[in-house]
Amino acid sequence: MNGIELRNVTKRYGTDKNGPLAVKGISFEVPAGTLTTILGPSGCGKTTTLRMIAGLESASSGSIFMGGRDVTTLGPAERNVSMMFQSYALFPHMNVIENVGYGLRMSGVKKDEAALRARGALKGVGLVGFDERLPSELSGGQQQRVALARALVLEPAVLLFDEPLSNLDARLRREMREEIRALQQRLKLTVAYVTHDQSEALAVSDQIIVMDHGVIAQRGTPEQLYARPESEFVAGFMGEAMVFPATAQADGSVALGPLRLQPRHAVAPGAVKVAVRPEAWEIGAAGTAAGLPATLRKAAYLGSFYEYGFDTPLGPVFVVSTDLSSPLAAGAEATLSLAAHGVSVVPAA
Ligand SMILES: Nc1ncnc2c1ncn2[C@@H]1O[C@H](COP(=O)(O)OP(=O)(O)O)[C@@H](O)[C@H]1O
Ligand SMILES: [Mg+2]
Repeated sequence: MNGIELRNVTKRYGTDKNGPLAVKGISFEVPAGTLTTILGPSGCGKTTTLRMIAGLESASSGSIFMGGRDVTTLGPAERNVSMMFQSYALFPHMNVIENVGYGLRMSGVKKDEAALRARGALKGVGLVGFDERLPSELSGGQQQRVALARALVLEPAVLLFDEPLSNLDARLRREMREEIRALQQRLKLTVAYVTHDQSEALAVSDQIIVMDHGVIAQRGTPEQLYARPESEFVAGFMGEAMVFPATAQADGSVALGPLRLQPRHAVAPGAVKVAVRPEAWEIGAAGTAAGLPATLRKAAYLGSFYEYGFDTPLGPVFVVSTDLSSPLAAGAEATLSLAAHGVSVVPAA
């Protein structure tokens, strides 16, 4: 059992007792053998949280457990944790094998043994035949793999990543995130992974923790966070969403202009908001009774889908349609209705 657990952890930098909290009493678990991402905008406390798990920062209050052991006051060396940073900083004067074997050598492993295990770790990340190269003789993606091998060779109970892919171009980012996920699953690693990129989080996670200003805004599986955001913030952060003011009725339904929705949770009558994913709109023929009348203002063909901008009584509405067989032209009249998925009622404030 190598799971991680945070209980009511706070962090205040500096000595001023009234200084701002970077992390405000968060609790969550990373179950052993699974990958949790901590997702959120810049400055929300992701790195601080990860560094507290690593033991590189001490928690101001609360407790951190690893494998059931209270590690709150332990230093990084006593936690059996490896961390991979955004700037993965390989030693420039050491070749690939030496870079990967460095941590082992530091902990007293003999040179030949370290090289052997380094070679094994490099094979594990798909980098074979580059042993003698210097970092400057490698591509960005290859350097990334060396950094990953360097973290893995120590066989840590817990592996931490802080925006490991943000220096890579888009294609490589996709490739590397798939490899990190495959490796994590193959070796059953316990991983906490920080990113500000929601698509990266959706792609690699068992669990996503969305942070906002030092608190957890919501946690859940990728599906739960994308399909059932509980706030406007999470709806907007987990993907595109348009948010409309709406009214919860006494009968429990929600009125969005002429549309009636049945919220998943009971809501008190009064003002609410409805967050709608662009793919949740269904486009019907003009003049359909129970729908939102709409006039197409602009259309864009994106290869595998169309993007439509409609004018409606609710204001502009952005729609993504994968129906490639009957494209609409600007000026077309239609009726919009909402699918059951991709629509969330969230608090108004
Ligand atoms: N060493 C530090 N000293 C003082 N304040 C810090 C320090 N590191 C981070 N902060 C502050 O803590 C907050 C959270 O920062 P951080 O955890 O780095 O956020 P993120 O990784 O989500 O961008 C920010 O307001 C940041 O300015
Ligand atoms: Mg950060």
